[in-house]
Amino acid sequence: MTEKWWQNEIFYQIYPASFKDANNDGIGDLKGIIEKLPTLSALGITTIWLSPIYCSPMCDNGYDISDYENIEPKFGTMADFNHLVASAKKLDIKIIMDLVINHTSDQHLWFKKALKNPNSPYRDYYIFKQGLNGEAPNNWRSNFGKGSSWTKVSGEDNVFYHHVFSKHQPDLNWENPRMRQEIYNMINRWLARGVAGFRVDAITFIKKDQDFASIEPDGVDGLGKVKRKAENRPEIEKFLNELNEKTFEQSDAVTIGEASGVSYDELGQFIGEKGYFSMIFDFHYADIDVYSGSEWYRKTKWTVKELRDEIYHSQLSIQKVGWAANFLENHDQPRSINKYIKDVNYQGSYGAKTLGILFFFLRGCPFIYQGQEIGMVNAARTQISDFNDVSSHDNYERAIEEGFTEKEALKFVNDRSRDNGRVPFHWNNDRNHGFNRDHKPWLAFSTQDKLVNVKDERKNVKSVWYFYKRMIEIRKNPTYSADLISGDFKVIESNENVIAYGRGEKIQIYVNLSSKVVETAIPHGNILLNTYEDYTNNTLFPYQGILIEVDKNE
Ligand code: NOJ
Ligand code: CA
Repeated sequence: MTEKWWQNEIFYQIYPASFKDANNDGIGDLKGIIEKLPTLSALGITTIWLSPIYCSPMCDNGYDISDYENIEPKFGTMADFNHLVASAKKLDIKIIMDLVINHTSDQHLWFKKALKNPNSPYRDYYIFKQGLNGEAPNNWRSNFGKGSSWTKVSGEDNVFYHHVFSKHQPDLNWENPRMRQEIYNMINRWLARGVAGFRVDAITFIKKDQDFASIEPDGVDGLGKVKRKAENRPEIEKFLNELNEKTFEQSDAVTIGEASGVSYDELGQFIGEKGYFSMIFDFHYADIDVYSGSEWYRKTKWTVKELRDEIYHSQLSIQKVGWAANFLENHDQPRSINKYIKDVNYQGSYGAKTLGILFFFLRGCPFIYQGQEIGMVNAARTQISDFNDVSSHDNYERAIEEGFTEKEALKFVNDRSRDNGRVPFHWNNDRNHGFNRDHKPWLAFSTQDKLVNVKDERKNVKSVWYFYKRMIEIRKNPTYSADLISGDFKVIESNENVIAYGRGEKIQIYVNLSSKVVETAIPHGNILLNTYEDYTNNTLFPYQGILIEVDKNE
């Protein structure tokens, strides 16, 4: 593939409400991010992805936008935003925004106008349908795991509106060209404000099957997953091509599609030379622990070999046509240590570092989620009312509906809750972990005794933070970057508990993802990174990961 500027980037995702609360009101803010830019610069990241900061009633923490043109006052002002972009630029850090255009908030002016007057042009900006004798128009289940994807319009007879996600997130009607043009204009205004691109939310949901027909139920509720009729459906290409042509392409913006439901055969259309996006996130191995990312009670018993095969398959498929967006965590996922490190004895810095090596050097751009670089872990909660996240509540109720006990349902939610990754960031050991001065944060901290934090990590050169810093330095180092950035991904056959791969001419990565000592053939070479102090030839200790420079890859 031809070289693109964004292939060199190292992305860092910030979840603004939980990063740093500068004005001590309990909610992270833009001034807090500005304050912490030097720390991010010291780590070495090059682009920040900001989860949504637009005006929002926060029913889904900003993924419900009530005004695309302004900053949510809880986060700051447009002046703060401009200041953030300019301050980041001085440190050679770019900013990308989250673009949520499958739906708006039910508090968006367009939706309010659509509700107020059925004859308003805004009515057709959304999807309104007649119900079936007072019931929803069909049996599609919301993507958050419970209940219909339709909500009855109050004050009107037998009329419903559609929402793939919560009822506070009505779906935009992409069939409407006027609505599409308004969205494109909005995107171009943000590009003009100096953002380098976008992470594009839930984008494969914008096209719905126009028959709006019911489907075979897939749960005891008689409903079927909405994605079967609304995710990556035929003719979505018309909208995605137009979106790209009218916006991103003209500004050479970087775009990362949150594009679930795309098969490996279709990757060319999405991320090929003329694809709709620069990259898309591949969820195949993020969801290794559950059969479906929206049904947390359906657990798998995955093996290292299965994880390895998923990673290989993903990398090889993407390599044929384009560039990958590699991640282990984001604001929708539990912490990677809890998900991928099965032995609790290694769910500390050993686990954090070995997962770091595993994902960071895959072919594509690495995406680090806030807290991953210090090895933050899940925060167990003892009752369902302690959860903020909408999908945690939906999944809890759905699990009970499917016959599980309250205790079992709570366990599923604790394992998978999106609140795990949303706990306020730990900056130091002071009150409220330095997130703010003393105000109660919007989401409780974990009650664990010893919590990792940036200040301690930066004092210790053997810490996870330093390990991430070192990984970033190696990727940027001109001696290795030809291999580590543009070099091919190659499968290396190894022990069933080891995930091994080569990059370019001279780099090999070996990660033992088990608590066993593994003997396996490893060529001699220059060890550039090691999650242990020592290395014994052809041996990997429990959860040991190494990166070696060899004479030549086969
Ligand atoms: C995906 C986002 O990552 C998630 O947080 C959100 O709830 C849904 N899309 C709906 O916008
Ligand atoms: Ca604040």
